Amino acid sequence: MRNHDLVFLKQFSMVIAFLVALTIALILAGMYINAQQEPEPNPVAEAAVQQRLQPVGGVYAGSTGAAAQAAAKAAAAAAAAGQVAYDGTLDGSVIYAALCGACHTAGAGGAPKLERAAWAARIAQGSDVMHKHAIEGFQGAAGIMPAKGGNPSLTDEQVIATVDWMVDNLK
Ligand code: HEC
Repeated sequence: MRNHDLVFLKQFSMVIAFLVALTIALILAGMYINAQQEPEPNPVAEAAVQQRLQPVGGVYAGSTGAAAQAAAKAAAAAAAAGQVAYDGTLDGSVIYAALCGACHTAGAGGAPKLERAAWAARIAQGSDVMHKHAIEGFQGAAGIMPAKGGNPSLTDEQVIATVDWMVDNLK
């Protein structure tokens, strides 16, 4: 009888051991298969990416589109109005002090200083040429004069007024 129990215990524990091993094997197999799957996309992250990919400007059609376009145009015009340089002043001294003087006061990059000697030959070519050179920019022997001193929001009249002020204020 005793012997019988021992045999049963031995076989039963073998069955249990086999089942434990099978369980561990199945867990490992499950983990392995799970690791092979692409992770589920996170809907919140997806939405955020979509939003970042949107074009900056909206596209409108129909009557809402026309209204939106008119509004955008008005906003652009208002922004452009604010961009007339130095409030549209025709006072050459203001524009010179704020912009042109950066080069012309110290003679940076070959810019002629406000000294009569540096300007004699330039004045001799006539004020129309100097105006044109200042508005359109030009490359001379001394260096590069950038168009409108590098500020395209200056009007032609403002540049002309500044050139005239410079010529009138040579020492
Ligand atoms: C980045 C530097 C720089 C700035 C800013 C600048 N200039 Fe000049 N300018 C020059 C240089 C350099 C020359 C000389 C080019 C040459 O003769 O080789 C010059 C030449 C000129 C001349 C002489 C043109 C000629 O026909 O000989 C006039 C006029 C002039 N600048 C006006 C202006 C006015 C007006 C402004 C401001 C709106 C201005 N400059 C801003 C660099 C500058």
